[in-house]
Amino acid sequence: MATLADLTNDHTDLDAEQVAYLQDLISSWGLLADLSFADLFLYGRSGDATDPTLVMLSHVRPTTGATLYRADLVGQVFERRRRSLIADCFDSSELVEGMANEEVDRGLNIMAVPVRRQGETIAVLARETVHPRERPSSEQERTYLKVFERFATMLKQGQFPYRDEARLRHRTPRVGDGLLLVDNEGRIEFASPNAVSVLHRLGVHRGIIGARVVDTGLGASILRNAFARRTTAIEEIEVGNEVAIVSHCFPLLDGDHSTGAIILVRDVTELRRRDRQLVSKDTTIREVHHRVKNNLQTISSLLRLQGRRLTSDEARAALFESIRRIGAISVVHETLAQSAEDDVAFVEIVRPLVRVVEESVSSPLRPVAFDVQGDAGVLPAPVTTTLAVVLTELLQNAVDHAFPTGQGGGDDDSSATVGIHLERRPDGLTVSVVDNGVGLPEDFRLEDATGLGLTIVKTFVEGELGGSIHLNPVARGNGTVAEVQIPATRLVGVRDEAQEPLA
Ligand SMILES: Nc1ncnc2c1ncn2[C@@H]1O[C@H](COP(=O)(O)OP(=O)(O)OP(=O)(O)O)[C@@H](O)[C@H]1O
Ligand SMILES: [Mg+2]
Repeated sequence: MATLADLTNDHTDLDAEQVAYLQDLISSWGLLADLSFADLFLYGRSGDATDPTLVMLSHVRPTTGATLYRADLVGQVFERRRRSLIADCFDSSELVEGMANEEVDRGLNIMAVPVRRQGETIAVLARETVHPRERPSSEQERTYLKVFERFATMLKQGQFPYRDEARLRHRTPRVGDGLLLVDNEGRIEFASPNAVSVLHRLGVHRGIIGARVVDTGLGASILRNAFARRTTAIEEIEVGNEVAIVSHCFPLLDGDHSTGAIILVRDVTELRRRDRQLVSKDTTIREVHHRVKNNLQTISSLLRLQGRRLTSDEARAALFESIRRIGAISVVHETLAQSAEDDVAFVEIVRPLVRVVEESVSSPLRPVAFDVQGDAGVLPAPVTTTLAVVLTELLQNAVDHAFPTGQGGGDDDSSATVGIHLERRPDGLTVSVVDNGVGLPEDFRLEDATGLGLTIVKTFVEGELGGSIHLNPVARGNGTVAEVQIPATRLVGVRDEAQEPLA
């Protein structure tokens, strides 16, 4: 679909500032459509002096009533005689109202409003309603239509769209959320039923009509700002932790005067409560990870104290092994505690894990270089913890067993390296740890391995992660490859599963 910029460029002589003015208009004219319960159209005129054509630049449907137009008419070009009321409005720069002289069955009542900027009519806004227009049935309808007419005057005077309009990232209140009409002294003249409900939430139960806005608790400054700056003002007020209301004030201007204002109000209490809950849930989860990490560190200290009292080297070594394993889990919780989400990219955990293993390489005579490649994507927290323990064991084995001589790699000219390769595919995840060391013992069989390290690895990979583990010699060259595969079904969190379409 052609944009406003395209259409003005192709069909009119409007300059960049005039186009920007029309952009501002169509970003806020939903309000006008709602107030008039009708479709609004914006027309531009071609520069051809003798026989100008009209182009439809934009269309907005009301959210308060039914649209007359299902089809998209934007971009259509009309000869003058087919839109004569619009053309008259361009010529006279005055409001024109009347029946469409089109050869269509249903008669249309058209109100054409000149959109003027710095004294020049740069476009025409047309309100189209079915004729005969039903008499406005309620006070509310009559009020809204009158307010629309006040905005029409502002369009003609070049006072709408507002200058330097306040905008919000979030959805600002709409007419249907609640509307207050206020006079130039800040007294409420009219309140829609939803606006009355909002005022009830603020504790105003009686005497709404005639009350001053400042006395309703809607905030003292919003009207003052809107009148003084002659543009919109937005304010959110909170009463205790109970009620949150957003109000959006539009001053009604006539020449140099402010003749009143409308204030759209919306009760956002529920929304804000949900925001707060989300924030506190996230902080709670982070806090839990933080505490788990602290507790693990306490356990490590206790074991370390105990280890120092032991005289048996073997027992002491065993305790320090355990301390290292606890360290790996603690790294995961520390990373999760720092992350904003409860799921974390696994690769972010690999680095600190490598550091844990590096610390256990006691002798500076055998430096080992670590090299991380690829990406495992984001994994659910429980998978992350389990996989972190598995990876630590594999890294530790490479460090412990691959380079026993202290002379670096198996080749004399290559230094000791351990690669960690992560590969995420649609069918699962592969994590491999590759070293260039001495290789596995001759008679090594994973099934028969009884060491605690590989037992942990097998139990976790096959049991908890439903995956497989293989240890093999590096195909060409020296060293060992440990390859862990985890199927994709184990890699989705509870939340992801909830979003999967049912098969
Ligand atoms: N990267 C490797 N290079 C050479 N040999 C390895 C490698 N990984 C494992 N091994 C062999 O597999 C054996 C079993 O490893 P496992 O981790 O189960 O026990 P461990 O490392 O000896 O003791 P623990 O891990 O309980 O401290 C090791 O003793 C070693 O012989
Ligand atoms: Mg081991």
